[in-house]
Amino acid sequence: MKRFLAKTALVTGGGRGIGRATALRLATEGAAVAVVDLDGGPAHEVAKAIGEIGRTAVGLEADVAAEGAAARLIEAAEKALGPLDILVNNAAKTGPADLASTDEASWDAEFAVTLRAAWAMARAALPGMTERGRGVIVNIASVNALTALGNPAYSAAKAGLLALTRQIATEYGPAGIRCNAVTPGTVHTDNPSWTSRLAADPDVFTKLERWYPVGRVGKPEDIAAAVAYLAADEAGFVNGANLVVDGGLTAGLAPMTRELTPGGR
Ligand SMILES: NC(=O)c1ccc[n+]([C@@H]2O[C@H](COP(=O)([O-])OP(=O)(O)OC[C@H]3O[C@@H](n4cnc5c(N)ncnc54)[C@H](O)[C@@H]3O)[C@@H](O)[C@H]2O)c1
Repeated sequence: MKRFLAKTALVTGGGRGIGRATALRLATEGAAVAVVDLDGGPAHEVAKAIGEIGRTAVGLEADVAAEGAAARLIEAAEKALGPLDILVNNAAKTGPADLASTDEASWDAEFAVTLRAAWAMARAALPGMTERGRGVIVNIASVNALTALGNPAYSAAKAGLLALTRQIATEYGPAGIRCNAVTPGTVHTDNPSWTSRLAADPDVFTKLERWYPVGRVGKPEDIAAAVAYLAADEAGFVNGANLVVDGGLTAGLAPMTRELTPGGR
């Protein structure tokens, strides 16, 4: 499929994991991509990989939560690639696992990257999109926005991101702009919270599989495919939606269902 020929995209946190897979997926389908990451090395590496498949890309090193970063990033991306069609707000910050260990500094830092930066990026991109009468924003949320799984500040920020998604969808839908969310379940990435859990328990992903009706945790490419669908014109009537991509995790309580259904699956 080549759904993004002559389109431009910006992916925050595009240097690794889900953001990297998303940048590569959009580019594979034709998009020119601005890869934004706190770590310049991975951002430039992904931009280089996109160049090697014959597409245009630029790597931009930035903290999306820094003062004024959003406007600078939209400007830099548009200068390099042309007017922005697709914005993917993927960067996030995960802090302490429980309420007792969450302090003011970690609460603010997690909200700054996970929610405020998504708002700032959208706010910086929307005037140009409005002028052109077209644009798509995809926000990467989390199952933590739907059900309590620890990391209270991150989870509350992700729930806020779903509210922001609905706000942009309704306010800017009449201007030809769509905004949707993708809500991943567990995805095997090198995210710092997974790296530390893996260090404590090398079997963590295998143990989590029993919660997933599909029998596995996610891959970055599972999420990238959902982002690509929402970003494409074929999703033209999808606006303000939350596409849950979690292998059925939040559809029910798989281990409990098995206990209640002796002899069942
Ligand atoms: N991996 C999972 O299990 C999972 C589950 C649900 C939701 N998500 C969400 O998916 C998204 C990506 O997660 P991932 O697992 O791929 O993470 P990751 O840590 O592998 O990649 C995130 C990237 O974002 C970059 N980044 C972090 N803070 C940044 C900032 N302030 N400015 C710019 N870049 C920044 C990091 O350098 C990194 O390259 C996040 O929004 C995360 O909350 C992940």
